[in-house]
Amino acid sequence: IVVVLDFGGQYNQLITRRIRELNVYSELMPYQTTAEELKQLNLKGIVFSGGPNSVYADGAPKVDPAIFELGVPILGICYGMQLLAHHFDAKVERADVREYGKSVIEVQSDNVMFAAQPASQQVWMSHSDKVVSVPSGFRVDATTATCPVAAMSDAARKLYAVQYHLEVNHSEFGQEQLKHFLYEVCAASGSWTSASFVDEAIAKIKAEVGDKKVLCALSGGVDSSVAAVLVHRAIGDNLTCMFVDHGLLRKNEAEQVMEMFAGEFKMNVVKIDARDRFLGRLAGVSDPERKRKIIGEEFIRVFEEESKALGQFDFLAQGTLYTDIIESGTATAATIKSHHNVGGLPEDMQFELVEPLNALFKDEVRAAGTELGIKDEIVWRQPFPGPGLAIRIIGDVTADKLEILQDADFVVRDEIRRSGLDREIWQYFAVLPDVRSVGVMGDERTYAYTIAIRGVTSSDGMTADWARIPYDVLERLSVRLVNEVRDVNRVVYDITSKPPATIEWE
Ligand code: XMP
Repeated sequence: IVVVLDFGGQYNQLITRRIRELNVYSELMPYQTTAEELKQLNLKGIVFSGGPNSVYADGAPKVDPAIFELGVPILGICYGMQLLAHHFDAKVERADVREYGKSVIEVQSDNVMFAAQPASQQVWMSHSDKVVSVPSGFRVDATTATCPVAAMSDAARKLYAVQYHLEVNHSEFGQEQLKHFLYEVCAASGSWTSASFVDEAIAKIKAEVGDKKVLCALSGGVDSSVAAVLVHRAIGDNLTCMFVDHGLLRKNEAEQVMEMFAGEFKMNVVKIDARDRFLGRLAGVSDPERKRKIIGEEFIRVFEEESKALGQFDFLAQGTLYTDIIESGTATAATIKSHHNVGGLPEDMQFELVEPLNALFKDEVRAAGTELGIKDEIVWRQPFPGPGLAIRIIGDVTADKLEILQDADFVVRDEIRRSGLDREIWQYFAVLPDVRSVGVMGDERTYAYTIAIRGVTSSDGMTADWARIPYDVLERLSVRLVNEVRDVNRVVYDITSKPPATIEWE
């Protein structure tokens, strides 16, 4: 893996994509990621991304200094280059003119990144600070008319840096330069493809599990789906999947999950209809935390009872991702983490774990899912909370409110997809606040529910901004929600970011 440390620049995701286009797996990680965490990866190189800050400002983002001791090649881009310069005591200062847009560099060294390229090249600049002198051990590789150091390197320490954005198309030879950095400096093999991952993972599961029996709790989310299909490819019918329908799923979701996994993939999936159990336990409960707790506990009970009924299993398959392990701060696979299932499975269950995705990041899991033939609607499914629609119904949950919310949520998802916004908006759904208001429809007074639309952009769910859904889409949503969903006469759009709000309402 080549890790791109994120300093907040607008092209950062693009850098990882460019690297993957060169068949090297890459992932964006927060700049606070420590050397210890990076050491756990099969790390070939690090890229410091661009970002809006000035390295010399108070509180400017810096990396864990131990990263420089890892001996791993580093490429700094824009802010990343200034950070390298600053770290090694060179001078970075405010430029008299902010350089933005196309510029021409003059290459003046035999830096391997520029091998077999013209000396004059067009690049894309976007910076207001500049490096004015290179640190000791470094040399200047390129300049522009206004920028004395447009590229620099210290080949002995494998440190490379460019002031311009080599990842954007306007930088004519940017992709060439990245390729040289990855293949020659990082010695990456360039063999990453989702097909190679899938083959390796299947072989590994076969070796690990042999002919023993595996149980998997399938939720229909991306991670558990990909994990289940991988294990199924490896061991076939020795895998049993349990799918608990708690009744808090989206419209038609339970049917779709069964159709896909039991129908199309011919997997052994047992659907547990626990809708009445969950609704019964939730009756009259309106406190959000109590609702969550009840659902978590009930899930564990159902899982325990039903897995016993299904027979003996040696392994439990889970869709744990690498990021889950980092986030929980535990490097061991032995604890079952709470966010994986509703509330988490009991810790004293006698299973060994199979976690075929635990070295992967979300994008890689998606690529593997596509490779395995899993439909886009699952592979690109938006995040959906374990407690389901129960935390999108403010107040107590009833079958009636669930039906209204399922219908409203269906309209929101359908309209966003039709508008082609489904991959732009990170999460979009309907909320049923416990609010009724007066309206007028066909000369008659109505007193009916309000539906709130929530749409957010985010990269990890930790922070989020409300999505700027175009007015015409909002208008269609408003009309359809009132016309197609019974007992709804008002539609509002939630325009709060996270923080201060959260993505979900409860
Ligand atoms: P909040 O509402 O905390 O949500 O801003 C952040 C992200 O997490 C999802 N979410 C959950 N996911 N179990 C889950 O698996 C949960 O209990 C849960 N609660 C929130 C939420 O949908 C958003 O993507």
